Amino acid sequence: MKVLLLSLAARGHAIADALSRSSHKPEIYSLFPKDNPGIKKLAVEQHVCDILNIDTVLQHAKRIEPDFAFVAPDDAIDAGMTDALAEIGIPSVSPTKICAQVETSKSFTRDLCEKHQLGCSPKYRTFMNEDVGQIDSYIRNDLQEEYVVKYDALYGGKGVKVSGDHLETVDDGIAYAEECIQECGRVVIEEKLIGVEFSLISFVSGTQVVHMPAVQDHKRAFEGDTGPNTGGMGTYSDASHSLPFLTEAELNQAKDLNQRMAEIIQEEAGEPYKGILFGGFIATANGVKLIEYNARFGDPEALNILPLLESDFVDICQGIINGELTEDLVRFASKATVCKYITPDCYPVSKSRKGEEVHFPAMPDNARIYFGDIEEDENGILHLGGSRTAGIVGIGDTIAEAQQVAQSLCEQVEGPVRFRDDIGSEQLLQERIDMMHSLRG
Ligand code: AMP
Ligand code: GLY
Repeated sequence: MKVLLLSLAARGHAIADALSRSSHKPEIYSLFPKDNPGIKKLAVEQHVCDILNIDTVLQHAKRIEPDFAFVAPDDAIDAGMTDALAEIGIPSVSPTKICAQVETSKSFTRDLCEKHQLGCSPKYRTFMNEDVGQIDSYIRNDLQEEYVVKYDALYGGKGVKVSGDHLETVDDGIAYAEECIQECGRVVIEEKLIGVEFSLISFVSGTQVVHMPAVQDHKRAFEGDTGPNTGGMGTYSDASHSLPFLTEAELNQAKDLNQRMAEIIQEEAGEPYKGILFGGFIATANGVKLIEYNARFGDPEALNILPLLESDFVDICQGIINGELTEDLVRFASKATVCKYITPDCYPVSKSRKGEEVHFPAMPDNARIYFGDIEEDENGILHLGGSRTAGIVGIGDTIAEAQQVAQSLCEQVEGPVRFRDDIGSEQLLQERIDMMHSLRG
């Protein structure tokens, strides 16, 4: 069996690791924008190439003739890679461009939720050039100046600006909204929700939906959720596959939303969604609300989830492709995980550490390391890139145990790097639990 894996960052390494544990012993052919030292050890071939270039990818695909492809990143999916591969007869574990609009257009998804009365949206409105003049009154009167401005297309995870966080005054918000309209024609402005965020990712094949353990991400660069937003500094999941601050009813609400969204996309697009559906949610005083959908695995979320997969990942991929995705194909260990990203100590402010050496301790059985922006030289020495270096995942019976494993390994990393001590800590967990208690009254 041959699998073509288009990926980038540590998420790609985690996917390759899960594929390589399959009893089908697939040959992994990796297309990656840089030479990833982790995937290289697992793949029969790794090609450094532009994974957004359809001609380049199809050339490799025609030569390799894989049984299926796994297109991991949002921009490759948005470039139409699933569709292009399908045209030469190669199925993918990733949605088509039409189905992926659930991630690539914020207004598309909000409108779908509204049309199908899912009750998961904040107050929102989409503005175009002709109604720019109404933005001021919408923000001040309808949203009472507690608002979020969303670029209405992919923007490398940096298209969303929140009042009080990134936007100090209403004029800042209007200026950013106008910038969005100029660049992509539309902007979504919505009510700022108060609550605790979490991710629920599901395997989807049409209306067949099987959920993975829920995860909480930490996007801010520094301790205590301060500093600029990053791609994600770390994540945790619990042995129960829920999260300590969520009630069963709240988790079920998120599961229902993923199920309903899969059904709605199929109805609207006229074709089944096949791949990974990532729901970004926020538990609020009024139940679970949707922040966004992604048409792919999360990074770091995949680093927590995939090491727990006890069943065969290739069987799941084939189930997704063939429309035979059943609950019994998917089994996760009842373990907790904590993932902490090692990054250059200047991340995300500058890339000045690029090229400097970094050394990692050996990973015990209850830990994993997944490589992101890092390069291996001819002597096997690893060097920092400019972005997130590697995710270290601790696995244990409790979050506390997993936290200790990850923390102690992160402390042993040598080089000009940092990581967030507080991810998975008792104090941070308690803060989330207390916040939800007070919101629920
Ligand atoms: P997104 O790119 O849609 O995931 O948004 C990035 C971040 O912006 C989210 O993780 C939230 O922290 C924040 N965000 C997005 N929409 C809202 C909202 N309606 N209310 C509060 N925060 C939001
Ligand atoms: N961890 C959030 C994301 O992958 O979008």
